[in-house]
Amino acid sequence: MDRPKIFVTHRLFEGPQAKLREKFEADYWSDSERPARAEVLRRIADKEGLICLLTEKIDNELLAAAPRLRTVANIAVGFDNIDLDACTRRGVAVSNTPGVLDDTTADFAWTLLMAVARRLIEGDALCRSGQWKGWNLDQLVGADIWGKTLGILGFGRIGRAVARRARGFNMRVIYNDAMRAPVEVENEFRAEYMEGDAVLREADFVSLHVPLLPATRGLIGPREFGLMKPSAFLINTSRGPVVQEAALIAALEQGQIAGAALDVFEREPQIGHGLLRPNVVLAPHLASASLETRTRMAMMAVENTIAFFEGRRPPNLLNPDAWKK
Ligand code: DGY
Repeated sequence: MDRPKIFVTHRLFEGPQAKLREKFEADYWSDSERPARAEVLRRIADKEGLICLLTEKIDNELLAAAPRLRTVANIAVGFDNIDLDACTRRGVAVSNTPGVLDDTTADFAWTLLMAVARRLIEGDALCRSGQWKGWNLDQLVGADIWGKTLGILGFGRIGRAVARRARGFNMRVIYNDAMRAPVEVENEFRAEYMEGDAVLREADFVSLHVPLLPATRGLIGPREFGLMKPSAFLINTSRGPVVQEAALIAALEQGQIAGAALDVFEREPQIGHGLLRPNVVLAPHLASASLETRTRMAMMAVENTIAFFEGRRPPNLLNPDAWKK
């Protein structure tokens, strides 16, 4: 039997790549630079499967260029790069990689939080500059973390993993989510539900963990920055467009908040010039980037694709209606 033809928009790690080789006739994009859109459209033309990154836009144009396409496996938990309705209409089954990156992403939200509060990046730059003249009482003084209030917007798996880590810092945890968590979960994570505005008013650190949806696009804008404490920090490891970048820059310039630590940006990979300030820590969308986790994510995408072509429901199917067809 012919092996299904699939296109993989990035080379995978050895384990997942080997597994893919056994089952498919796989066409890999092997440069470290992303393939140009025209190249993706060309290579997808005769493929039945696609394994892609969150930087690939899966829309009507791509689907029209891929008449034989039956499944898309996104190597990410977020899938705002995919027009799910368009895929469902064409009977293309879509999957993602939930669960395997929660703790790694939560670790990184904390990495950012600590780096911005304790001015680690400025300290590192001072050490490297050769200008450090020795200990001084008021040198690079930052903000305490322990005992403060952590506000979490989006209390799903990742938001909860962030909350769990706050215990060791003896922090108060407050949260908002479109759906309030059951009381057992609130007790387990020692987290208190509040209205979104109250979270913004009371938190010393606001950490974002909502998916990018029409309702969350631009969620944090001028009004929300106006509610935050001037001593508060914003941490974003969710999606860039959840925060109105121009409003964030204005809030930083006007001292409405104390600083920000960002892993994601409104127009990635562009970073607004106004964010290049000492009280902003910047990372290039790294939150899930540990070798173990990225390997697990790639393996999960491979397993979703194998399941599909073996006639089994992909474990992380996002559009069951496409599967029924
Ligand atoms: C995701 O999975 O959605 C992240 O943004 C990348 O790990």
